[in-house]
Amino acid sequence: MNIIGPKAYIHLDRLKQNLWNIRKQIGDRHLLCVVKADGYGHGATVIARAIAREPGVSFAVFVFEEALELRQAGITNEILIFSRLQKSWLEDAARLNLVVSASAMGDLELLQDVQGRIGKCPRFHVKFDTGMTRLGFDLADSDSVFGFLNANKSLPAAGIYSHFATADEGDLSYAHTQLHAFQQVVKEGQEAGLSFQYIHCSNSGAVLNLSGAYFNMVRVGMLLYGAAPSHEVTMDVDVEPVMSFCGPIVNIRRRVQAGTQVSYGGVYTTVNETNIAVIQTGFADGFPRPWYERGFVSYKGLEYKIAGRACMDQFMVDFGDVEPEEGEEVLIFGKRGHDHLPVERIAQETGTTTYVLLTGIHGRTEHITLP
Ligand SMILES: Cc1ncc(COP(=O)(O)O)c(C=O)c1O
Repeated sequence: MNIIGPKAYIHLDRLKQNLWNIRKQIGDRHLLCVVKADGYGHGATVIARAIAREPGVSFAVFVFEEALELRQAGITNEILIFSRLQKSWLEDAARLNLVVSASAMGDLELLQDVQGRIGKCPRFHVKFDTGMTRLGFDLADSDSVFGFLNANKSLPAAGIYSHFATADEGDLSYAHTQLHAFQQVVKEGQEAGLSFQYIHCSNSGAVLNLSGAYFNMVRVGMLLYGAAPSHEVTMDVDVEPVMSFCGPIVNIRRRVQAGTQVSYGGVYTTVNETNIAVIQTGFADGFPRPWYERGFVSYKGLEYKIAGRACMDQFMVDFGDVEPEEGEEVLIFGKRGHDHLPVERIAQETGTTTYVLLTGIHGRTEHITLP
């Protein structure tokens, strides 16, 4: 059945091309594809299945349940869980061959404990906080961390990593300070006699801005989905939007008189006689509500102004003299057919980020995968 409502078209050909273009930039390093938050709103299993067999690809998620979903979908690649360790799922993580993050002494103790109890411990990456002030060991604790790992050689410490706070900004001075701190702690680990299979701290911003931070693994989310992590980066890696977010025209009010109010609050009034189309997509589906103030949609290659406040389930578009057909779709963001409306533009003009907009796609939105 063809359900009328918002659609997120997922262009898998672009996803693969984006991955290959990122690969050209980072060489043969391991690529940790970040598919947390349902693959940034694109559908984690669809995304993971499409690229699982590309060489050198593993996946990162935030919570255990996201990793479980991938395993249940038949994904056998390595999967790293970013979140704080929880005792409740540690045994399952070991059984499912998931890789976890250790970011506090308590985490290392939990790992030691699970190994003692079941004779098995999930492989893990140690995370150091170099400037996010979020998860991660303090740099000052590096001696204790490396000492613990040396004293417990049977614990499978497979990686070491950190996360940048400002790698996608114009001013990279703080990112360079973080990078230097990370290089230092990696060196200390090596001097303590430890060798980590994976060393990583780059995200999309660093892929674009900090080629000296690639180490032997690069984590990439936003670039893979074909959008810029911020408006301050230069997009030297060629990528195309993987999602096209569209809404169907479900009603056309023809020849609406000049001076007619449209939508809640009456903040939009028609200037001339015009055709107003009703689009069945609302902020409950992920439509970026503040965009109505200055926003537009794309239809057959042309831009048409959004008329009045976006509602929970619908919004209106002023088509002027043009008469679209009921059942046709307008493009809200992405790139489809003759229409191109970058999500970056909406992010910048509404004071938000591409991350917020893409992960906000939900509600009644139907995901349609295109090969
Ligand atoms: C720890 C970590 N690494 C990598 C990423 C991927 O970042 P990006 O989407 O900017 O590539 C994220 C995303 O927020 C993250 O939290």
